[in-house]
Amino acid sequence: MPPKDKIYPTPKNPKETKKVLLRLLSYLSKEKKLLIIVFFLILISIAANVGSSYLLRPIINDYIMPGNIPGLIKMLFILGGIYITGIIASLIQYRILNKVGGRTVAKLRADLFSKMETLPIKFFDTNKHGELMSRYTNDMDRVSEVLTETLSDMFSNILSFIGIFILMVYISPLLTLTTIIVFPLMVFIAQKVVKKSRKFFKGQQKVIGDENGYIEEMISGQKVIKLFSREKIAEEEFDKYNEELRGIAEKAQLYSGMMMPLMQNMNTLNFVFVTIVGGLLAIFKGLDIGGLAAFLQYSRQFGRPINEIANQYNTLQAAIAGAERIFNIIDQVPENANDTKSPVKFENGIKGEIIFNDIYFGYNPEEPVLKGISLHAVPGKKIALVGATGAGKTTIFNIMPRFYDAQEGEILVDGISQDKIDRSILRKSMAIVLQDTHLFTGTVMENIRYGRPEATDNEVIEAAKLAAAHSFISRLPQGYQTELNDDGSNLSQGQRQLLNIARAAVADPPVLLLDEATSDVDTRTEILIQKGMDKLMEGRTSFVIAHRLSTVQNADEILVLENGKIIERGSHAELLAKKGKYYNLYTGQFD
Ligand SMILES: Nc1ncnc2c1ncn2[C@@H]1O[C@H](COP(=O)(O)OP(=O)(O)OP(=O)(O)O)[C@@H](O)[C@H]1O
Ligand SMILES: [Mg+2]
Repeated sequence: MPPKDKIYPTPKNPKETKKVLLRLLSYLSKEKKLLIIVFFLILISIAANVGSSYLLRPIINDYIMPGNIPGLIKMLFILGGIYITGIIASLIQYRILNKVGGRTVAKLRADLFSKMETLPIKFFDTNKHGELMSRYTNDMDRVSEVLTETLSDMFSNILSFIGIFILMVYISPLLTLTTIIVFPLMVFIAQKVVKKSRKFFKGQQKVIGDENGYIEEMISGQKVIKLFSREKIAEEEFDKYNEELRGIAEKAQLYSGMMMPLMQNMNTLNFVFVTIVGGLLAIFKGLDIGGLAAFLQYSRQFGRPINEIANQYNTLQAAIAGAERIFNIIDQVPENANDTKSPVKFENGIKGEIIFNDIYFGYNPEEPVLKGISLHAVPGKKIALVGATGAGKTTIFNIMPRFYDAQEGEILVDGISQDKIDRSILRKSMAIVLQDTHLFTGTVMENIRYGRPEATDNEVIEAAKLAAAHSFISRLPQGYQTELNDDGSNLSQGQRQLLNIARAAVADPPVLLLDEATSDVDTRTEILIQKGMDKLMEGRTSFVIAHRLSTVQNADEILVLENGKIIERGSHAELLAKKGKYYNLYTGQFD
């Protein structure tokens, strides 16, 4: 399993939480006008809500008690009007927030994706893909929920609470005092519960990420799992994640769910208490019956905003945990962070001279993989890299287009230091056919054209012919218009290789890097590709990695790599004459 979450420790203290929240809110700043409208709509609906309860007082005192039926009907209409106004205001409010929230999350998602596109290969090598995915799904959902609902609900609950409180005091300060005796207790309990559930919600999100990462790995590795009959073990491992998630989700739910009944019971208790005291006040202190009725209504409503706020606070916490994880990626250093401000753009194109001067590189700086590599590729010449597995051949390819940067030494392209060259120009000048091919969902045509979107259909077909891919493509059901599944799983490995080569051919770059490009095809196809390759390599600087030495014989220079060092170099004939490592490899003698 890849290392877990190394890059982003999650900040935990309240100060960080506040920072994340403010940052999330800053995403809303473009929507100021709409938010001001929402603010007023909330005021209207709260006023309608709280005010309508207050109307009970005049309705009872002035119309019901004296038995004024026409007046009562009039009042009921007014009451109905107020209710309807409140409902309409809150409907519009939700509609607006829905839009605002949707837009904001879309922006956040776009930011996340565009940031991801700037991150170095290292980032993707060291993070679980499913775990990254869950930031787009689970974490975004949480944030979306908060932006469209929770924040405004919290705000209206706070307003309700204040409104209710004011009216309660207005009706009877003494009764209010009675009510709020229980209040600190409620707040205390709410705080305790919220604190607990916050912890679990945060953990829950993390576990969901891990579990998604695991699922992703298991989906892409199904074949290997089945081949080695690891289904049971995979299941057991999954059960561990699942069990962990169940446990933590259960606790998170438990604490947030506990809130409701706890608060309700206390509310009921409170209600009984207030009714008794209120009754006494009405009998002995002349509290009006309408006032008492309105007050009782309020005292029931009084607790609701508090426990709703507590619940919403939980949701907010989960969203903040999600936002934190999203921002953690948005804050990753892009790969071009330290690039020069005015990179060389090679207006006249790159010729393709590549020089390595004493390059040292390790994926982990403490463990060098390349140790003092020097080479000189003359434009248009072919250099072959051979050597045992793990010698560092692919690694040389990784640093040429700056997927990784060397720690020491310099790489010159047409005499210019690699790090002074515009990254995209540098990469456009090199086509790489990697050991592990990758194809995108789409047609064969689109896949070959990937490297140069403006290429015509004819150019694509020419490239396919060059790569010896044309004949098999013609035999596909829809030819060039055949849709490929994810990663071309409906093609054979060799066919995938051929498409990757065609893609490199159509890109028409001055430098070509071929890593084991012909390892998966049959002998006849291999000869075809070889011919195509030779044509493709004509006039380009090419680097070829091949395990079968027969395919590298015609290289202008062969570099023999061992353990990150070049131990022999020369032409095929020279190296054979030397009777060294290459000779041993070639003749099949191993030491
Ligand atoms: N992404 C990576 N992160 C960390 N270490 C890596 C990474 N890729 C390769 N390595 C290490 O670097 C060393 C050289 O790997 P490299 O891929 O260059 O070998 P290679 O010569 O291409 O081998 P092969 O012939 O098997 O393709 C290996 O020891 C490998 O463990
Ligand atoms: Mg390799």
